[in-house]
Amino acid sequence: MENDNFLKGKVAFITGSGSGFGREMALVFASKGANLVLNDINMIGLEETRDLVLKEYKVDIYLAQADISEASQVKEMRKKVLDHVDNIFLIVNNAGIDGGLYKSLAAPIDVYDKVMAVNVKGAWNITKAFFRKMKGQRDFKPIRGKIINIASCAGTDCGINPYLGIYSASKATIIAFTKIWALELGSSNITVNAISPGLFLTPIYKNDPTTIRMFMDARGVKLPIDRIGKSKEVADIALFLASPASDYITGQNIIIDGGMTVSINKM
Ligand SMILES: NC(=O)c1ccc[n+]([C@@H]2O[C@H](COP(=O)([O-])OP(=O)(O)OC[C@H]3O[C@@H](n4cnc5c(N)ncnc54)[C@H](O)[C@@H]3O)[C@@H](O)[C@H]2O)c1
Repeated sequence: MENDNFLKGKVAFITGSGSGFGREMALVFASKGANLVLNDINMIGLEETRDLVLKEYKVDIYLAQADISEASQVKEMRKKVLDHVDNIFLIVNNAGIDGGLYKSLAAPIDVYDKVMAVNVKGAWNITKAFFRKMKGQRDFKPIRGKIINIASCAGTDCGINPYLGIYSASKATIIAFTKIWALELGSSNITVNAISPGLFLTPIYKNDPTTIRMFMDARGVKLPIDRIGKSKEVADIALFLASPASDYITGQNIIIDGGMTVSINKM
């Protein structure tokens, strides 16, 4: 996989790419020749990502600012994007928000609405906007397109967490949609997989390892590989899912967590 420009001529559309994992994914996809459509609600972050990518790689980049939770904005963005690019090989539903430390039944209704709107409806809006374009890409063989959903350990059986109540439920829903879309789109040769990261240092944790360590101590979390993850490690799993090496994988959720979820209550 190292030297192969396997994404050349292919477009990767990444939501939430003005920061964190999304930015790292933009870099790794560009390193394999992908042209990029970068979405975020935050234009300054998008411009920073674009500049970082262009410093290293000669690829085409289109910046598509929109709030993915708003169907009308997604519709408008879709039109502009499809005027600029001739394919959408990859969709990465990465944009997400956390919603604070509330048990699900204690969370205010606006937290419920906002977290579900971005983390679930946003991914659904984007997938709905672009899956038909993917389906029509018969020249891409054997796979016409790939969808990668960024979920979370908090959405898995082992990591589900009442203190991240609504967030946890939103990520479990995204894992369910991963399986549902894999079933709906498999006959069109489109794969759909999820990545569930554990604890990673990104702006969602204010780039602050102490915040993460406090969370771990409060919840009694132990990591067999005892360090906080690096965003590039999530981006490399996304690159594997974007590569031909994963063409026969669909409907799966890959957990990358230093062993956190297997260790709960065992260490
Ligand atoms: N950092 C972690 O430890 C961790 C762990 C598990 C899962 N995740 C998930 O990974 C994904 C990326 O998170 P991150 O850690 O890189 O966070 P981040 O805050 O650095 O990046 C999220 C990006 O999404 C954008 N965004 C937010 N709302 C949006 C909207 N409505 N429309 C468009 N863009 C929007 C933000 O502006 C930001 O640039 C999220 O889905 C998050 O839930 C993160």
